Amino acid sequence: MSVVLHVDSSVRSVSNINPEHESISKKLAKQFILKLKKEADINEYIYRDIGVKPPQLITQDWIGAVFTPELKRTIQQQHILAQSDELIAEVEKSNLIVISSPMYNYGMPSQLKAWFDQIIRINKTFDFNLARGDKPLAPIFSGKKLVIITSSGEFGFGKGEINEESNHLVPHLRTLSKYLGVTEIYEIASEYQEFSDHRHEQSLQVAESKANEIASVLAKNLRFKTC
Ligand SMILES: Cc1cc2nc3c(=O)[nH]c(=O)nc-3n(C[C@H](O)[C@H](O)[C@H](O)COP(=O)(O)O)c2cc1C
Repeated sequence: MSVVLHVDSSVRSVSNINPEHESISKKLAKQFILKLKKEADINEYIYRDIGVKPPQLITQDWIGAVFTPELKRTIQQQHILAQSDELIAEVEKSNLIVISSPMYNYGMPSQLKAWFDQIIRINKTFDFNLARGDKPLAPIFSGKKLVIITSSGEFGFGKGEINEESNHLVPHLRTLSKYLGVTEIYEIASEYQEFSDHRHEQSLQVAESKANEIASVLAKNLRFKTC
């Protein structure tokens, strides 16, 4: 079974009356998925537009429910965790996860952070054991591939570049993805959106080519688990 989970997080739409307001990250992700679907044998495709329909923010009651043993949870606590359970089940069944994200204030949109907060959950996606010493957390899932597709207004967020230190988007996604069970990461980034010049066009073209290349590589190499 090959299962692809596609999560978009820009608040902008793929198509808009004013094309200048269309989401670049969503458009790149759409192109990637179309190419992948053309070349790979996908059994299930799950799509979430959390930019438009964000997950709930976690609350004190949510934490209380998480730390209550499963068999002792009240109906209300089960209800509080229902969305988290659903989102985790989608991650669990997927072999490939595609996350598209705009850079907002040098990090991820709050909608995407809310998605991770619902998913990274003790005894569901990670376990905690002090016997592991200084690194007590360990992911429960493994072997998943992740494609990170980003768009930013400024530029130079890559390794050794002028704004590397301000990039709290990709490094954060890389750190958190461990707890989704991700062991292989591919990156596609479009920059310069705010400059609207040839550098933006060029950056977008490079990102589009990379999206096609990575989709082809993954279509060939994805080893799908048998369910
Ligand atoms: C609320 C907000 C905050 C932003 N913050 C940054 C930022 O910190 N750095 C940056 O390079 N671009 C920033 N931008 C520009 C976006 O990253 C850029 O418009 C990107 O293309 C948005 O992704 P999208 O086209 O998929 O919607 C910001 C845009 C918005 C709307």
